[in-house]
Amino acid sequence: MAKQQLGPTTQLFPMPALLVAVRTGDGTAGILTVAWAGIVGGQPPMMALEIGGSHYSTPYIEQEGSFTVNVPSTDMAVGVDYCGTVSGTRDPNKAETCGWTLTPATQIVSPLIAECPINFECRIERKIEAGRAAFYLVEILETHVDEEALGKDGSPSASAVDPLIYTPDKSYYGLGERIGEAWSIGKALSK
Ligand SMILES: Cc1cc2nc3c(=O)[nH]c(=O)nc-3n(C[C@H](O)[C@H](O)[C@H](O)COP(=O)(O)O)c2cc1C
Repeated sequence: MAKQQLGPTTQLFPMPALLVAVRTGDGTAGILTVAWAGIVGGQPPMMALEIGGSHYSTPYIEQEGSFTVNVPSTDMAVGVDYCGTVSGTRDPNKAETCGWTLTPATQIVSPLIAECPINFECRIERKIEAGRAAFYLVEILETHVDEEALGKDGSPSASAVDPLIYTPDKSYYGLGERIGEAWSIGKALSK
């Protein structure tokens, strides 16, 4: 099959559509949508996120050295897109606009977004400057999961979490069908 070369791109997907929340004052938080993010380590659990330097939330992130990463469900897509397109300079209370509840975290000052089925409390371990943005390498200090989203084995069930996914063709998706069991279906080719 013929291929076209697109040069260096960011066409690796799907990406998670995440909500980063940082305390901005008493009971208020800056909330921004972040899709350039992912798990990069397990022991300790680490995540990397690319965050622009000009965002309203960024000075608060720098000041606190920590923030929460909240995993929205597909039914939160409109609010996620709002938080990714409207600056806190214009709307410093995006949680209220979106009808979301801010609840306290346990180890950091920034709040959790209660409506998100999974919330991570994260502490910045390293920052790598990258032009007008920076890569933040964060340690996950705590994970909160809705009880209804927990599977029988005590870890989050992907279908119950129903995470919102972003793709670079400017689209939001939900998870598709389950294809099979990981670390297992490949055994069909074992000789
Ligand atoms: C789908 C989507 C993904 C985004 N991903 C990122 C990202 O990975 N990093 C980033 O810095 N901004 C990203 N943005 C842009 C910010 O969320 C947006 O500029 C936001 O309004 C900043 O909020 P603030 O100025 O209130 O802090 C994304 C926006 C959308 C809609």
